[in-house]
Order: sequence, then C-alpha cells, then structure tokens
Amino acid sequence: MANIIDGKAVSAQVKEGIRQEVEALKAKGVEIGLAVVIVGDDPASQVYVKNKEKACEAVGFNSYKYALPAETTEEELLALVDKLNNDDKVDGILVQLPLPKHLDDKIIINNIRPDKDVDAFHPVNVGKIMIGDYSFLPCTPAGVMELIKSTGTEVSGKECVVIGRSNIVGKPQAMLLLHQNGTVTITHSKTKNLKEVCARADILVAAVGRAKMVTADYIKEGAVVIDVGMNRDENGKLCGDVDFEDCKEKAGFITPVPGGVGPMTIAMLMKNTLTACKEHHNS
Ligand code: GUN
Repeated sequence: MANIIDGKAVSAQVKEGIRQEVEALKAKGVEIGLAVVIVGDDPASQVYVKNKEKACEAVGFNSYKYALPAETTEEELLALVDKLNNDDKVDGILVQLPLPKHLDDKIIINNIRPDKDVDAFHPVNVGKIMIGDYSFLPCTPAGVMELIKSTGTEVSGKECVVIGRSNIVGKPQAMLLLHQNGTVTITHSKTKNLKEVCARADILVAAVGRAKMVTADYIKEGAVVIDVGMNRDENGKLCGDVDFEDCKEKAGFITPVPGGVGPMTIAMLMKNTLTACKEHHNS
C-alpha cells in the first residue's frame, strides 16, 4: 500500500506559516488584500471563489469579491481590472476562469498588472517562470512541488513525466521540475507509447483531464504519483486522472482526489498574495 499524501495537512501547514507572517505584518500596520473577480454563474467557479474567500479569512487577508453578471462587456471588465490595478488596498487580482464565451481570457489577463497577477498567468510572469527568475509561482504546479517535497523525495536527477501540456499546469509544471534538476518529459495526446513513457517515471504528474486514465500499468513500482485531475466518474463522483484504487498498491506515494492537489492550489495563491504585498511594501 502506497503512502497517501495528505494535501489538506500540507496545505494547512503552508497556510499556518502565512497566517503568522500576516500577523507580523499587521503589527507593523500592513494589511493584505486579494480581489477576486467572477463573471457569470458557473457553479464550479462559484465554489472555487468561495473557497478562496474562506482561505483569505483563515490567513487574515482582506478579500474583495466582485461578482459581475454574465452579460458584462469587455470594456466593463477592463475598467474594473484597471480600478483594481490602481487600488493600493489590493495586492493581488484574480479573475476566475473560464470567462463567458464573449470575453477573451487573454485580453483580460494581459491587462492585470504583473506585480498583482497572483495566478502568474500574465505573459511577463510566464516568461519569468521560464527563466527561473520569479516572484509568483503558478499555483497548481507550485502546490505539486510542495507535495513532492512533503514525501522527502529529491527531484534532482529523477525521471519526471508530466501528462498534459496546458499553459496553467503541464508546461509550468515541467519548468518547476526542471528548475529542481529533474529529467523531464512532457506527454500529450500525440505521444506514442504513453504507457511505457509514464512507467519510466520516478515522479508522475497527471494533468490531462480524463477520469481514471492512469492505471497501474502506467506506473513504476514505488513512484511518486501526483494527480491534478478533477473529473466526475460514471456515477457522478469526483475523481482524478489516476485510478486510485488500481494504483495505490504499486505507487510509493499517491495523492487522493479530493484532498490532494486541490487544497494546495489555494495555499499557493495565498503565498503569492503575501509575496505581492511584501513587494508592494518592501517588507
Ligand atoms: N479556474 C480554475 N482554476 C483556476 C485558477 O487557478 N485561477 C483562475 N483565475 N481561474 C481558475
């Protein structure tokens, strides 16, 4: 039986560290603010935004929620982003994705001030991640790195395989593993012999969005298996990209879904917001 990585516990530790730093900053008169913008009424996005607000409260940040109707125009949303860019109470700005179809994610993200872009989605921040000179880490990949660290596994020199090449997870994940000297392979829908490639991995990160695709035959005995997937199975139950029941005997360490990567993403968002605040106040 693999060791099950407890994302909630690791996330709680990270948030506790942040809470203590926030307390020290508040004692010096510094307040920390995160603005969260949601457009429309996508139910999943509403849950994510609520969780982000709760996390802000737990660590002592001020959170400013802007819930805009689905018909909001690009001009209106850009006007709000501009207002938040210029608001000194706001250290971080997060525009929840996906946006309604008539709005272009790229245009909105490109207009968030890079030093307030706590998602690290702005091209300036993406470029900084590429060259290893960053303030903000991409939240989900950074959360994955914390979970790997919690297992005591050294990334340096290991075979690391990432399944998925999205801009939000797969590509930045590969960069963070590379910065820690992993030997990294990014796989995707056109990869030949995917199973064999994955089975070479000492560290396997699945971020493909296909329910229970990764079965025991994709896994090397004793590997660290991190599941970024968030899918519904045939019974409508939340599940990852990894078939947990099938893999749990063979993996050395494995994350559950829910309770693995999910809680870490929010902890890393809090960390980025704290970093933004410290940079804004030079403290
Ligand atoms: N939608 C799903 N995940 C995310 C995220 O990490 N950031 C934002 N802004 N939107 C999301």
